[in-house]
Amino acid sequence: MTVEDPSLIALHNVSKVYTTGGVEYVALDGVEFSVDRGEFVAVVGPSGSGKSTLLNVVAAIDRPTEGRVVVDGVEVSNLAENEAARWRGRNIGVVFQFFQLLPTLSLADNVILPMDFCGVHPRRDRRSLAADLLDRVGLADHIDKRPSEVSGGEQQRAAIARALANDPPIILGDEPTGNLDSESAASMMDLFDDLVTSGRTVMMVTHDRDLADRTSRIVLVKDGSLSEPTGLRS
Ligand SMILES: Nc1ncnc2c1ncn2[C@@H]1O[C@H](COP(=O)(O)OP(=O)(O)OP(=O)(O)O)[C@@H](O)[C@H]1O
Ligand SMILES: [Mg+2]
Repeated sequence: MTVEDPSLIALHNVSKVYTTGGVEYVALDGVEFSVDRGEFVAVVGPSGSGKSTLLNVVAAIDRPTEGRVVVDGVEVSNLAENEAARWRGRNIGVVFQFFQLLPTLSLADNVILPMDFCGVHPRRDRRSLAADLLDRVGLADHIDKRPSEVSGGEQQRAAIARALANDPPIILGDEPTGNLDSESAASMMDLFDDLVTSGRTVMMVTHDRDLADRTSRIVLVKDGSLSEPTGLRS
């Protein structure tokens, strides 16, 4: 089902309540939020405030308990799990907080996997596209290694390459530079800048104020609520 919505990403009164052992925990609390095409949004806030939950409902990895999430006209909060996976594969590149590379596959095959899942690129092109993406994140010399054979920062960069496998219009990163030294983090920010310049939309959780200051918009998550206080920029 498609829905009219002027924003690329729109959350309407979205709440997410987790119930563990009979205790309710409100991770998102009636969130109204939207992102336009071509924005570069930094998501900041304390640990446990709801940042990952926010990305997960946008990516249709999690369903809100209440409210609607509409992404590019698709009401993703309504998709069945298999539909959500297919939709996500074509539309969203996700860099997870813990990279979630498959340990038995080479870095190249980790990048090829989402290509195989979605079939956007012809089969014969996938390996060279994966090599190009790994080259873009500085891993040209490591494409045949397994995740355990590279450093944590290199795994994180491979996860960024994998997020770009199907050339998605939206990239969501959960601390995508959290394991990188400042030089590599800056070069990944350059990559995100290039993606935004070429029309992609990037939303990124970060604890790094300097990196947040490089984006076009900073959103603060606190106790499951979003705000955009002026003065967050240094
Ligand atoms: N699957 C779950 N079951 C129960 N509670 C959960 C679950 N996932 C998250 N929560 C709770 O929801 C709240 C928000 O979690 P979330 O992961 O979104 O925080 P975060 O802002 O990403 O934190 P961090 O910066 O530490 O990654 C936390 O209090 C967390 O304990
Ligand atoms: Mg998190």
